[in-house]
Amino acid sequence: MKNVSIFSGMLAVLIALFGVRAVADDHCNLSLGAADNMQFSTKAMAAPVACENVTVTLNHTGVFPKNAMGHNWVLTTEADFKGVAMDGGSAGLKNNYVKEGDTRVIAMTEIIGGGESTSVTFSTEGLTAGTAYTFFCSFPGHWGIMKGTFTLS
Ligand code: CU
Repeated sequence: MKNVSIFSGMLAVLIALFGVRAVADDHCNLSLGAADNMQFSTKAMAAPVACENVTVTLNHTGVFPKNAMGHNWVLTTEADFKGVAMDGGSAGLKNNYVKEGDTRVIAMTEIIGGGESTSVTFSTEGLTAGTAYTFFCSFPGHWGIMKGTFTLS
């Protein structure tokens, strides 16, 4: 009888752990859209502090190819944003408009065109909860408008 109650107790703990984990995982997956109007579908993204990793999926809902209306999702600190964006302008499409080996970049996707999707998974280790990081599209001429905040909260 004692063994049975220990077993069911452990089972309850396991269910609780996996149940919480499943919810946390769900909230660690974020997505946003961008179309030919040069706008992201959101200006503020947030993930729970509990997320060890965050996955961001970018859906390009437009029709123009990536060399004309390409979009990506790049994450930096607010302070690094402009420098990374300006340096990225001359890096070219082959480098997804991000300077090669730019250590200021926390996470980034490739540049995609209309109808395409891409995603990036990055560790939240080293990010500060409550700090508003900047996400943006580094395609030349886009980052003035295509930007927003990313926060662990
Ligand atoms: Cu763009």
